[in-house]
Amino acid sequence: MSYENCARIINDDIFDLVNETFGREKSSRNIEGRVNFFDTYKDYFVLTDDGSYSINSKEINHKVETLHTSTGAISESFEKFIKPMKFNYYEDIAVLDICAGLGYNTSAAIADFLKNSKANLTIDMVEISKATLACGLLVPSPIPEHDITKKAIENELIVQDYAGLSLETAEIPENISINVFIEDARQTVQKLDDNTYDAIFLDPFSQNMAPELFSLEFFREFRRIIKNDGIIATYTSSAPVRAGFIEADFYIGLGPIFGRMQGGSLASPNPEMLDWSLPKNDEIRIALSDVGIPFRDPGLNNKSKDILNERTRERQNARHSTKISSAVKTPIFLGQTMDDEKLKRRVERNLAKMNIPSTTSPQANYIVEVEDDYREKQDFENNSRNRILEMEKRLKKVKEEEIKF
Ligand SMILES: C[S@@+](CC[C@H](N)C(=O)[O-])C[C@H]1O[C@@H](n2cnc3c(N)ncnc32)[C@H](O)[C@@H]1O
Repeated sequence: MSYENCARIINDDIFDLVNETFGREKSSRNIEGRVNFFDTYKDYFVLTDDGSYSINSKEINHKVETLHTSTGAISESFEKFIKPMKFNYYEDIAVLDICAGLGYNTSAAIADFLKNSKANLTIDMVEISKATLACGLLVPSPIPEHDITKKAIENELIVQDYAGLSLETAEIPENISINVFIEDARQTVQKLDDNTYDAIFLDPFSQNMAPELFSLEFFREFRRIIKNDGIIATYTSSAPVRAGFIEADFYIGLGPIFGRMQGGSLASPNPEMLDWSLPKNDEIRIALSDVGIPFRDPGLNNKSKDILNERTRERQNARHSTKISSAVKTPIFLGQTMDDEKLKRRVERNLAKMNIPSTTSPQANYIVEVEDDYREKQDFENNSRNRILEMEKRLKKVKEEEIKF
C-alpha cells in the first residue's frame, strides 16, 4: 500500500472523485471534469467562516478533522503563519511549507511578500498527497495569489503525470520560485540544505493523528535547515511538541490565538525572534511532568501508532522516576497552598514519590522559584526555554537528593 493510502490525508470519497477526474482528464484531454468539479461536488467542500473552503480528512479511529479551522481557512494562514514572522523584506526570503494541502499557507506568504518586498522569494511546498494538491486546483481561490500557487501545483502534477492539461492561466512572477515536493515530509527534510529557511510552516493534522510530523528527530532536521533568525510556526499548544522543540535546541514562544482557546507555538534558534513566553503553567508542566515527553521517531520512518505507543511506554517509565506524574496536573500545585483536601492528598502522594514532601515544602519552592522571574515578554536571558531547563535541572537534584533542605 502506498504511503498516501495509509497516511492521514483527505476523505476517501473526495480522494476517489479527484483521482477519477484527473485520470479521465489525462485519457480524454477533456477540461470539463476539472472545470465543473467544484459545482458538481460542492457538498464535499466545507465552507469556513471567512468564505474560504476546506475539506475533511480521512476518517481515522472514527475521527475526522478538517484541513483548516472553521473560523476561516485562509484567515488562519495569515494569522497563524504569516503574522508571527519577522521577515527582513530587503533580503531574499526562503519558506518551507510543510503539509501544504490546498496551498493556502503558501498563498498567504506570496501575498505578504508581494505587498512588502522587491527581493526574491523561494517557497518549498511539501505535501504527501497528489489528490490533496489537486483539490487545491479545484477550490475557488480565496485570494488572488492562490492562482499563483495553483499554477505551481499544476506544473508539478503535470510533471508527475497526474494532471493532463495546463489550465491555470496565472503567471508565477520572476522573483518567486515555488518548488513542490510530493512525498512524506520526513523524507524531504533530510534532503534539504543546512541553514536555508527564514520560515517553516508546520501544519499537519493533530498530534494524535500525525505524531510523526511533530517528533524530536523531525525537529532536529529543522534545526539544521533553518537560519539562525528563522521562525517555525505551528498551530498547536501541545506540551510534547513544545518539549520536542526544546530538546531539539530551539527557543520557544507563544503563537497567535486564532480559532482556538490557546495560542499556537513558535520556535527559533534565536530567542530574540520570539516575543511572548508560554503561559507559566505550560512551562511547569513541560519541565516537570511526563506530558513533557516528546514524540520520538529515530529513523524518521515509524508508523503513527508505534510512535504514540512508544511515548505512552516512555511516560509510564518516567512517572515517579524522572518526572512528576501528570495526573490531576500535579506539578502546577507546587508552591501553592491547597484547600481541597482530597485533591491535596492525591497531589502530595505523587510529589512524595519524587522526594517532594508537600506542595509548600522547601523542595517544592526551590523548583518553582524559577517562575518568580517570569515575564510575558521574552528576551535573551529571560525566556521559556531557560526556565524550563532550569526547573528540569532542579527537579533532578531534588529527586536524587543532591541538595540538602
Ligand atoms: C491540516 S492539512 C494542511 C493544510 C494546508 N497547510 C493548507 O494550506 O491548505 C494537513 C496536510 O498534511 C498532509 N500530510 C499528511 N501526512 C503527511 C506527510 N507525512 N508529509 C507531508 N504531508 C502530509 C495531508 O495530506 C494534509 O494535506
